[in-house]
Amino acid sequence: MQLRCLSLHILSLLIVIYTIDAIHSVSTICEFNVTKDNKLYSYNLASPSETFTHGVLSEDGYYKVSSNGTVVWFQLCDGMIFNHDPPRCFDCLECGGQSRCGTGCSALMSSNILGGYSVCTTIGRTQSITTNLIDKKSPSMGVIVEMWHQGPEMNCSLSVSVICDSKKFQGPKTLEKFGNCNFATQITHPAGCAIVLAIKDNKSGWFSTLLIMYLSNYK
Ligand SMILES: *[C@@H]1O[C@H](CO)[C@@H](O)[C@H](O)[C@H]1NC(C)=O
Ligand SMILES: *[C@@H]1O[C@H](CO)[C@@H](O)[C@H](O)[C@H]1NC(C)=O
Ligand SMILES: *[C@@H]1O[C@H](CO)[C@@H](O)[C@H](O)[C@H]1NC(C)=O
Ligand SMILES: *[C@@H]1O[C@H](CO)[C@@H](O)[C@H](O)[C@H]1NC(C)=O
Repeated sequence: MQLRCLSLHILSLLIVIYTIDAIHSVSTICEFNVTKDNKLYSYNLASPSETFTHGVLSEDGYYKVSSNGTVVWFQLCDGMIFNHDPPRCFDCLECGGQSRCGTGCSALMSSNILGGYSVCTTIGRTQSITTNLIDKKSPSMGVIVEMWHQGPEMNCSLSVSVICDSKKFQGPKTLEKFGNCNFATQITHPAGCAIVLAIKDNKSGWFSTLLIMYLSNYK
């Protein structure tokens, strides 16, 4: 009887631990885990490494890429900082205002309109950044960071593929446009590679084993 009572206590303790663990795995910006084929792929894009002390974040405070007269500035996993060469364009209200243009968002786009003016549009905000696998079937390929912004006139977004290469860094080179205001670019960076851990059994498997043990004990 005492043994049974003890195992009941152990079980409730395990349930508490299991629940806390489940709450812990809620993802934060640019940090996430996936399990596939008994392996845990753990990504933390913003975490420092020996060669990249800022992780995937650009040390300049921003990345810049342009195509067909459209310029896009962005930072990954954070807002942008401009110590030099800030964006000069009209209508920067949603991204820091005219004097601090670029510092109020995580991605900004400028395009030339007639008369040589550049107009800025916010296309990503730190409040709306998500990270996913580039390809759900192959976690080793890398991750895709998506940001978006719902503006009064347009809904815009930027997707940045962070292609995993443990030895190579390559900044953004090409910029593609989809629809009205959706952009995509890619970089190659070691931060896009996961730390891979082998897992013998997944948690629910481990937990149900214990539950079965407990229940058979209870009979
Ligand atoms: C992902 O897994 C690693 C290793 O178990 C852990 O340290 C980290 O906190 C987890 N991160 C998230 C967002 O669940
Ligand atoms: C932006 O997206 C929201 C939510 O999907 C939608 O309600 C709104 O009409 C969109 N605005 C424009 C200008 O497309
Ligand atoms: C630039 O032009 C190419 C070729 O037409 C197109 O694929 C690409 O999406 C364009 N990029 C932008 C930012 O408009
Ligand atoms: C985890 O374990 C449960 C029960 O053993 C199993 O049904 C499920 O498919 C497993 N999930 C993964 C991702 O291996």
